[in-house]
Amino acid sequence: MQPKRIKSPYWAGHIPFSFELIKALSPITVVELGVYSGTSFAAFCQAASSLNIQAKCYGIDTWEGDIHMGKFDEKIYKDISEYCMVNYPDTAVLIRKTFAEGSSLFNDKTVDLLHMDGTHTYEAVKNDYEMWISKISDKGVILIHDTNITYENSGESFKDYGAKQFFDSVKSLYPHVEFMHSYGLGVLVIGKHTTDSVMRMISDSRSRAFLQYFERLGRRIKCHE
Ligand SMILES: C[S@@+](CC[C@H](N)C(=O)[O-])C[C@H]1O[C@@H](n2cnc3c(N)ncnc32)[C@H](O)[C@@H]1O
Repeated sequence: MQPKRIKSPYWAGHIPFSFELIKALSPITVVELGVYSGTSFAAFCQAASSLNIQAKCYGIDTWEGDIHMGKFDEKIYKDISEYCMVNYPDTAVLIRKTFAEGSSLFNDKTVDLLHMDGTHTYEAVKNDYEMWISKISDKGVILIHDTNITYENSGESFKDYGAKQFFDSVKSLYPHVEFMHSYGLGVLVIGKHTTDSVMRMISDSRSRAFLQYFERLGRRIKCHE
């Protein structure tokens, strides 16, 4: 399956894994914290819709920007919002709120896949996790982007990023996978009764070949803009 929307290069390398994860998890409810122009959000919607999984994908963002990205032009929200209406009217729901405001819309134990890609300071990532952890279902998985921000790939601004520090502080509590490409993606299997396919992925990920396979596929993905 070829990705249909790649608006920014930072997350694009995780699209192949996200397609595979949606297939393995077969989620009913997907929530993304931090949509921006929709590269990761569109990948979740595309996978669910192409695989005929009756999922709803909720994307929460103020579309106002943050300390890493600066202030946004209104065009960014307009563009992703029109894209979702045209391509995924039954799957995509955009919620223009803060993550805290958005969290009150979801009951406990109802979110099968949570992608955390908002502000990436240690305090913000920890706060988002603590605010959302009770929402995760018995088969639920959390993804955390930017767990491999270094001086080499991001220059001096690497000091502002704490997603790795946070991921390292919780990963031993759960079955997990850590991808190093595309600025890093941490995968935590929170639910105690996830699918056999997800557990198979976790055990396959102990082999370097698994990580290299998704890294190789990810490197082939080129940004459309
Ligand atoms: C790194 S970008 C998301 C990138 C996106 N996942 C992609 O694939 O391109 C982070 C986004 O989080 C949003 N954001 C950060 N903190 C937020 C908060 N507390 N509430 C709502 N939105 C927030 C910003 O507006 C920004 O659009």
